[in-house]
Amino acid sequence: MKVFVSRRIPENGLEAVAAETDSVVWPDDLPPPRDELLRAVAGCDGVLTLLTDRVDDEFLDAAGPQLKVVSNYAVGFDNVDVAACTRRGIPVGNTPGVLTETTADLAWALMMAAARRLPEGDRYVRAGKWKTWGPLLLLGPDVHGATIGIVGFGRIGQAVARRATGFGMTILYHDVHRADAAVETAFGATFLPLEELLAESDFVSLHVNLTPETRGLINAEKLGWMKSTAVLVNTSRGPVVDPRALADALRAGTIFAAGLDVTDPEPIPTDDPLLSLDNCLVVPHIASASSATRAKMAEMAAANLLAGLRGDRLPTPVNPEVYEAAGRSAGGNP
Ligand code: DGY
Repeated sequence: MKVFVSRRIPENGLEAVAAETDSVVWPDDLPPPRDELLRAVAGCDGVLTLLTDRVDDEFLDAAGPQLKVVSNYAVGFDNVDVAACTRRGIPVGNTPGVLTETTADLAWALMMAAARRLPEGDRYVRAGKWKTWGPLLLLGPDVHGATIGIVGFGRIGQAVARRATGFGMTILYHDVHRADAAVETAFGATFLPLEELLAESDFVSLHVNLTPETRGLINAEKLGWMKSTAVLVNTSRGPVVDPRALADALRAGTIFAAGLDVTDPEPIPTDDPLLSLDNCLVVPHIASASSATRAKMAEMAAANLLAGLRGDRLPTPVNPEVYEAAGRSAGGNP
């Protein structure tokens, strides 16, 4: 079975794939340019892709009709045209669950760091500006006891809520689906329409998938609904927030600060207005970047890939309808 792996992932995943397939791994730190990616997947039975690879009809055509599985090394799969894969009977796998807690940790780190101005403090010290203890130095809002609004109350949103209970926070959430009463009770979480959540929250943390409905969800109007003391945290996908509107809001003091793990575009250009703002903390899409979690993601991605190649049901398919529709247990690209 011929396989292309579009970047080096942790060794446990690569070893599992190499043991059972004839695999080629893209060796560079940067993703394969589009033309090289399309050449590399030609004739492959399976592909292990990253969120930096666009998997669409062009990609699937380039791969050819023998392609049996697309295994995406991420829980998010907005880089994959899932409908196109389903039409061709190709199962798509992702890596849900294993990165939930690690991503929630990072959301929390961004929240604390942006509120308590840690990057500014660090820059201040390194610049030799620390001359004395200052009563008015680098003041920010308290996290404990504050109100957190969680937009997207799935696995990661709930993991953020669990941490918030330890900080004695009031927990609000918004989602297209209201959570079960038992879940609301467990977290003491209150469902609110987005407008009210934004208006009442001291911290807003985004945990939605990127879809046509959530693209640009946090725009100038929504930022205008937030408190001038509020902190926005985004560990979901960059395009969920309108970057120009966010820069304007941070500059004007419409909101207090932002902590971003994801940007639009990625990577963020060094001359992006957001990077000129002291109250905007940006890290390079590292929410799942603990060694243990990345290794678990590698294990899952390899397991999805190998199951697809064998014609078995993927452990975590994002398009299970591919099996029902075709009335078969295996994918196949007709
Ligand atoms: C994902 O998995 O979707 C994250 O963005 C990267 O781990």
